[in-house]
Amino acid sequence: MRLSEYFLPTLKENPSEAQIVSHRLMLRAGMVRQSAAGIYSGLPMGLRVLRKIERIVREEQDRAGAIEVLMPTLQPAEIWRESGRYEDYGKEMLRITDRHERDLLYGPTNEELITQIFRDNVRSYRDLPKNLYHIQWKFRDEIRPRFGVMRGREFLMKDAYSFDIDEASARRAYQKMFVAYLRSFRRMGLKALPMAADTGPIGGDLSHEFIILAETGESEVFCHADILDLPVPEADYEGDLSPVIDAFTQYYARTDEMHDGDEFAANVPGDKQLTARGIEVGHIFYFGQKYSEPMKAMVTGPDGKDVAVHSGSYGIGVSRLVGGIVEASHDDDGIIWPWAVAPFHIGLVNLKTGHEGCDALCEKLHDALTQNGLDVLYDDRDERAGTKFSDMDLIGLPWQAVIGPRGADKGEVEVKNRATGEKQVLALDAAVALLSAPPEK
Ligand SMILES: Nc1ncnc2c1ncn2[C@@H]1O[C@H](COP(=O)(O)OP(=O)(O)O)[C@@H](O)[C@H]1O
Ligand SMILES: [Mg+2]
Repeated sequence: MRLSEYFLPTLKENPSEAQIVSHRLMLRAGMVRQSAAGIYSGLPMGLRVLRKIERIVREEQDRAGAIEVLMPTLQPAEIWRESGRYEDYGKEMLRITDRHERDLLYGPTNEELITQIFRDNVRSYRDLPKNLYHIQWKFRDEIRPRFGVMRGREFLMKDAYSFDIDEASARRAYQKMFVAYLRSFRRMGLKALPMAADTGPIGGDLSHEFIILAETGESEVFCHADILDLPVPEADYEGDLSPVIDAFTQYYARTDEMHDGDEFAANVPGDKQLTARGIEVGHIFYFGQKYSEPMKAMVTGPDGKDVAVHSGSYGIGVSRLVGGIVEASHDDDGIIWPWAVAPFHIGLVNLKTGHEGCDALCEKLHDALTQNGLDVLYDDRDERAGTKFSDMDLIGLPWQAVIGPRGADKGEVEVKNRATGEKQVLALDAAVALLSAPPEK
């Protein structure tokens, strides 16, 4: 992509409305623009990252056996009256009346709608288990939308819903999502820590929030430091997942809501007690027959008797993750994208557009990298070198490749690792080889 033909409105100054670093950098790097409080347009750079995150989430959901559907953003009020949540949800729900005076709402979540779809189409235990997910916009009329995409009113969520014949089987569905979450976040370059969360009136141990550590996070976190070093294993979804779950749940790890100071002191040695702030990027929850009973989502069991199915729901904050990754990975000069979610892999800087040698070598490098399947952003603008360098650091692509008149004469490229700042001058072929893989940390 040629920058001269792209749409990348970067800002030199820090926007005054942005309180946290990810919001500032996302505005400055031309990723998003606010359209109303807590409602954002994605500009091309932001959209590319969102799509890459979505793709990782989708691949890992599919791998874990979940099946993708797409439910609408608007839902009829009736199904929420059936579950009893229409009144309970209060002002966070955006309620809409259509021209026929029918009550609709912009979905804040989808338990009711998926339960309706399930009950209308599945009758027998033989069709179980099922886990259906979608990646769709939600609306919650938050009192205090803030921190850019981190706490928006309209936001993109992956939400999955599992249906099982009994609790034991539902527990397996839960374990699969647990492992899929570990894998998804790790692929994005994040360490997301599962923390025991409140299960409400249902009780049990089947609710976890996945939290990434960041100073600006809204949750306070208390955990055993060793959780941070646990490896995320390959997942065998047909096999026994308990060892993975046990490894990650063996340590104390809770947010302020569930924290118990005495237990923390008793179970975690002093030098391992980690108190920090974190961002909730995912939340998984087993809620049993909470919706299947009032909404009559029944299947016939092996004994011929009807039973209400056991369900759980599993959310990932896809748009929040864009901000979360920036919070976790930046420096004073800008963003540092992990390879897997970077909007482009390489920023190619032509220091003298119009100079025959520079133009020719840039084209050559651009074509070679593109042929290797890499995403290249080619800064061919007629701008000062200083502007090009600071924009490149700001947008944070993993590699920078710089070509100026002197190097061009010798056929050389200066390659910079954005994360470490390390630079090296290489001949074209060596540069292509290096730039074709993620930089070393
Ligand atoms: N207002 C919001 N803006 C952006 N992402 C959100 C917002 N609310 C929730 N999310 C994301 O969606 C995921 C699932 O939401 P859920 O757990 O139902 O929300 P909450 O924790 O607010 O009750 C959360 O883990 C979070 O990553
Ligand atoms: Mg939550």
